[in-house]
Amino acid sequence: MMNVVAIDGPAASGKSSVATAVAEALNAVHINTGSMYRAVGYKTVLAGIDPEKDPETFAKVLASVQMRFVRQGQGDPELEVDGEFPGEKLRTEAASAAASKVATIPAVRTRLVELQREMAGNDLLVMEGRDIGTVVFPDAKYKFFLTASPEERAKRRLLQDGFELDPELLQKTAAAIAERDRVDSTRAVSPLKQADDATLVDSSDLSKEETVQRILMLIREKQNG
Ligand code: DC
Repeated sequence: MMNVVAIDGPAASGKSSVATAVAEALNAVHINTGSMYRAVGYKTVLAGIDPEKDPETFAKVLASVQMRFVRQGQGDPELEVDGEFPGEKLRTEAASAAASKVATIPAVRTRLVELQREMAGNDLLVMEGRDIGTVVFPDAKYKFFLTASPEERAKRRLLQDGFELDPELLQKTAAAIAERDRVDSTRAVSPLKQADDATLVDSSDLSKEETVQRILMLIREKQNG
């Protein structure tokens, strides 16, 4: 069994902040695999390379892009892409859209899954994404599927982005989130799906701290059992 805590779940489920806190409590390294899909989108789609119109150039860039996570003092390691730290550039709406486009391309997934598998070792790793428990590490020791209702996720996203919780905006955002869930869980390649042996954690009625504590308790139970 791999010494991995796999945390999967839909967009805006709070995965990243929960995974960061879980890794910190366990003194483990946290890898956010979404940033790798964002980096591929950044080097290709955002650089004007269309994977459909120019598959050759796309394949070349995909094969040559260098990625590694570098730990800079405390906190989560940061993704270095071809010698630069794109950081916030990967968090824009455009980078999100580019990431979700390249995430449907099988060759992209093959390359990134390979890189992700190379990161596992003796030390405990907390890896977060969409397909960690199903595809990357089907034999991870601990697997969680973190979710929350579309309404609750919409609320968290709006608050995080500094919006007021206007009912109409809330409803629109929840509908967009539900639609993205539908697309993600019905796509042909590595659809978002709970692994059979993953524990479902619904955080709709839990604070971030309560969610983290629940996951840590489940890990300890398994360690001791
Ligand atoms: O978690 P995120 O929003 O940073 O993910 C960015 C995109 O990458 C999103 O469209 C989902 C996709 N992704 C994926 O397909 N598989 C992963 N393991 C992680 C992210």
